[in-house]
Amino acid sequence: MIILGIESSCDECAVALVEDGSKVLSNVVASQVEIHAPYSGVVPELASRKHIEWILDVIAGSFREAGVDVGEIDGIAVTSRPGLVGSLMVGVCFAKGVAVATGKPVVGVDHLKAHLYAVMLLEPINYPYIGVVISGGHSLICRVDSFDEVEQLGSTIDDACGEAFDKVARHYGFGFPGGPAVEAVARGGDPDAYNFPKPSMHKDPNPYNFSYSGLKTAVIHHPDRFWKQGSPKGTNHIAASFQRCAIDIILDKLSRVVEKTGIDRVVIGGGVASNSYLRESVSRTASYTSYLPPKEYCTDNAAMVAGIGYHYLVAGMESSLSLKVAPHSIGSRSVAHP
Ligand code: KG4
Ligand code: ZN
Repeated sequence: MIILGIESSCDECAVALVEDGSKVLSNVVASQVEIHAPYSGVVPELASRKHIEWILDVIAGSFREAGVDVGEIDGIAVTSRPGLVGSLMVGVCFAKGVAVATGKPVVGVDHLKAHLYAVMLLEPINYPYIGVVISGGHSLICRVDSFDEVEQLGSTIDDACGEAFDKVARHYGFGFPGGPAVEAVARGGDPDAYNFPKPSMHKDPNPYNFSYSGLKTAVIHHPDRFWKQGSPKGTNHIAASFQRCAIDIILDKLSRVVEKTGIDRVVIGGGVASNSYLRESVSRTASYTSYLPPKEYCTDNAAMVAGIGYHYLVAGMESSLSLKVAPHSIGSRSVAHP
């Protein structure tokens, strides 16, 4: 079965063709980074306009790259939540149009579940596993029992992990998007030069929740308070120390969840999963086996959407043509499908 995947939840206009849930025939991503870079952040109105301008070319490019004709597809999968509503609507309206024109079924996909599925494009992972999504909009830790059954164990109570990278990068003028920019600057820095604070979370009854606003504030407004006597000073050392702290927060939660649940398979997805310090750290961890997609499937892409969409369509869980978009993820166990 060949599934057409469409992803337009934020600033990537992406279309892919994937066969049987894992064989990627094409994966085209048109990034809007240059459009939003002058603002050091994604401007929702600009994002949706660019999706409208670009999506036809991106779809055509994806079919061309795969050498597939539109008549050969068996279904369409599209991100319908969570994300920027105007951007999501472009992808969903297009998906419905293709469904009407071809007579093929369409299914709306949760972007976070698609991130958790991305690694399956490379290799099947046995359920259950612990899933982590760390992106610009989310920090989520969950138990995953199937492609659709995701039980949220913890999430951010304020800023998302990637958002903290983006805001630190914006403040110090490292570049946009912030994650790769911080990583590049951090390469020349000492990760032990500043001892930035990890959140104590003592007031939060859920030990698996995350918080990044305290760390972000410390890094942006009071770095000198956390400088370690005798260490080198400077923005590259701040970047390296921030990166270490931000990622260690994830690693600490993961260790606790693995110990508590006894599930020792861990899948990590979302843009921050492409961070090299994170990837090296989890590969050295003995208490669990980690599975991370290659970098092009960590950041937003449509191959993960087409991949998970295959499983919905095989299970007969298609959406109606009144499929709606939503800014938030359902994010809890056994969600009713649209
Ligand atoms: O999953 P994604 O492409 O889009 C969302 O769903 O949000 O994630 C984008 C986020 C941004 O915050 C970006 O700064 C961050 O992922 N990111 C990184 C790295 N590459 C992307 N963060 C840390 N290190 C990276 N190498
Ligand atoms: Zn994403």
